[in-house]
Amino acid sequence: MALMTKSEQAPTEGVPNVPTHVAIIMDGNGRWAKQHGLPRPEGHRHGVENLRRVLRACVQEGVKILTIYAFSTENWNRPKYEVDALMRLLEMFIERELDELDSQGVQIRHIGDLEGVNLRLARKIRSATARTAHNNTLILNVAFNYGGRKEIVQAVKRIVREGVPEDNITEELISRYMYTGDLPDPDLIIRTSGELRVSNFLIWQSSYSEFYVTPTLWPDFDQNEFHLALETYAARTRRFGKTDDQVNG
Ligand code: IPE
Ligand code: IPE
Ligand code: MG
Repeated sequence: MALMTKSEQAPTEGVPNVPTHVAIIMDGNGRWAKQHGLPRPEGHRHGVENLRRVLRACVQEGVKILTIYAFSTENWNRPKYEVDALMRLLEMFIERELDELDSQGVQIRHIGDLEGVNLRLARKIRSATARTAHNNTLILNVAFNYGGRKEIVQAVKRIVREGVPEDNITEELISRYMYTGDLPDPDLIIRTSGELRVSNFLIWQSSYSEFYVTPTLWPDFDQNEFHLALETYAARTRRFGKTDDQVNG
């Protein structure tokens, strides 16, 4: 996957309001397939292809962290043939793209649970994350077998297991126990295909994220659409509870 050479990268210093961390709920593959008279797995295949474009756009725009929702803990409830196709596609994505992603400086991370995931796929995910751990052009955080509530349950269990004293429990501490531990919260969450819900995605981390929803289906979400999302974000005022005057003055 050709991302962007150093000289092609847009200068990001001085560009106002580029979100550091963008998260995307990549939704609408099934409807895209239906529109094109294709089986649902074909929609997912085109969805995976589309990741190349969006990764390229991220590097170009100067986004530092991209979190993508690839498979939720609830998606196991889909028909087996579709779940199997999604697992195969993730494995193929790693096989085909790892060398290129690594050479472009992409650090691949996984958030979610590898328990219950096919052993071969789990091994590939672990080896991709280990191999790219030193990279720093872009952090690609893949939410796979991810559930926001499950993440909170796991954090609470670890906090209890480690015997953290009650007085030490702060918002910062809980954030550190999330899968996203050392990363800043997402500035912008994009959802494609028009659904107005969070579907168990980053429910702790999104407390002050900006939301952007487009009716465009994920396989059609291109660089221009990504740019439009960033432009819309740049024009927003994030008040974090304050008044406009406080923020602008
Ligand atoms: C998103 O597309 C991909 C996954 C959830 C894995 P969908 O498969 O949810 O597409 P729609 O919502 O049915 O159109
Ligand atoms: C959310 O999409 C999960 C991913 C994009 C991986 P869904 O299509 O599963 O969400 P719901 O079921 O419509 O809320
Ligand atoms: Mg969907």
